[in-house]
Amino acid sequence: MQATRLIVNGQTFEVTADQDTPLLDILRNHLGLKGTKFGCGLEQCGCCMVLIDGKPEKSCGRSLSAVAGKAILTIEGLGTPDRPHPLQEAFLDEQAGQCGYCLPGILISAKALLDQNPSPSRKEIAEALDDNVCRCGSQHRILRAVERAALGMREGAAR
Ligand code: FES
Ligand code: FES
Repeated sequence: MQATRLIVNGQTFEVTADQDTPLLDILRNHLGLKGTKFGCGLEQCGCCMVLIDGKPEKSCGRSLSAVAGKAILTIEGLGTPDRPHPLQEAFLDEQAGQCGYCLPGILISAKALLDQNPSPSRKEIAEALDDNVCRCGSQHRILRAVERAALGMREGAAR
């Protein structure tokens, strides 16, 4: 096993683990970042979504060796209770979730979308979240929350 350098939420870590270890395992069990969730482990549910160099990726399907030196953003890097990201505020305002297990992955996918497209249509939001499964049936509130965040961010940028 060799030490691998990871950049997570702007912080640099040296991780010693097998190079084939899934990034999800590294985040949760080596770095203690439990916000990224284990759902299926088979790249089917989107619970484990993180941004890797700005692109949404399922961390259960990426090995440690594949992400060495890349910039990784997890839900812990999106916002804090004191300084929430507009998406997090909008999800709270819309009460967009029930159990909440899917939400870290959904927020990450939504951030990737709004970073690229500040004014997405509802169809574009649905397409961007297509890889994220929500079993609680909160999809309509989730779509509304992303629209609300996008509007708030546009209005904030125009001020
Ligand atoms: S846990 Fe990674 S896609 Fe389900
Ligand atoms: S809120 Fe429960 S799975 Fe989405």
